[in-house]
Amino acid sequence: MQEQIIQQGAEAILIKKGEELIKRRVKKGYRISELDEKLRKSRTRKEFKLLEKARNLIDVPSVKKVSDKEMEIDMEFIEGEKLSDNLDNLENWRGVCLQIGENIAKLHDAGIIHGDLTTSNMIWKEQGKKVYFIDFGLGFFSDRVEDKAVDLHLIKEALEAKHFKNFENYFKTILQGYKISKNYKEILRRLERVERRGRYKEQY
Ligand SMILES: Nc1ncnc2c1ncn2[C@@H]1O[C@H](COP(=O)(O)OP(=O)(O)O)[C@@H](O)[C@H]1O
Ligand SMILES: [Mg+2]
Repeated sequence: MQEQIIQQGAEAILIKKGEELIKRRVKKGYRISELDEKLRKSRTRKEFKLLEKARNLIDVPSVKKVSDKEMEIDMEFIEGEKLSDNLDNLENWRGVCLQIGENIAKLHDAGIIHGDLTTSNMIWKEQGKKVYFIDFGLGFFSDRVEDKAVDLHLIKEALEAKHFKNFENYFKTILQGYKISKNYKEILRRLERVERRGRYKEQY
């Protein structure tokens, strides 16, 4: 079957093979090989676990196979558009942002921190009008309010960097979606603190 390299990132190579997407963590030359192998193995496993748990909550690619030896995850290829490329062109950005906020709330309520919430890690599928979250490579399990607030802070910063024209509206709408979280108020209060800390750091 024809294989096509989608991306050769810092951590992984992504290959499209028919309807599947292979995410293979490749060796990093500068790391001691034993450590390198350990890290790649644990990250592959962790990403797999997070994907499996998230799958019961929101739209994520389904995992076909995970291999410790090859350090790769074979998953469903999501046919759609990356939100980093097309959020600014979507008439229905409001609905999309609401869904993003709801997705984050569902993950957080189940103790999943995505860790890399950017629009590059979200795929919009027009058919069914769904936002898929991908790339749980920096994710982890936590019930701490702080971790959830930082996760939200990250997406705000990512939006500001990538979609500066409309980022305030995007973020506001994401927070509207996030209201379904059982700890909404507490997390929002913490987010304000996280942001004050950020400003303080910039000043001094
Ligand atoms: N399941 C998938 N379906 C379609 N495209 C994907 C899928 N997983 C990853 N991609 C594409 O590959 C890119 C990199 O994948 P990602 O998991 O984000 O790796 P990285 O850790 O290198 O950022 C994504 O931005 C997306 O374009
Ligand atoms: Mg990514």
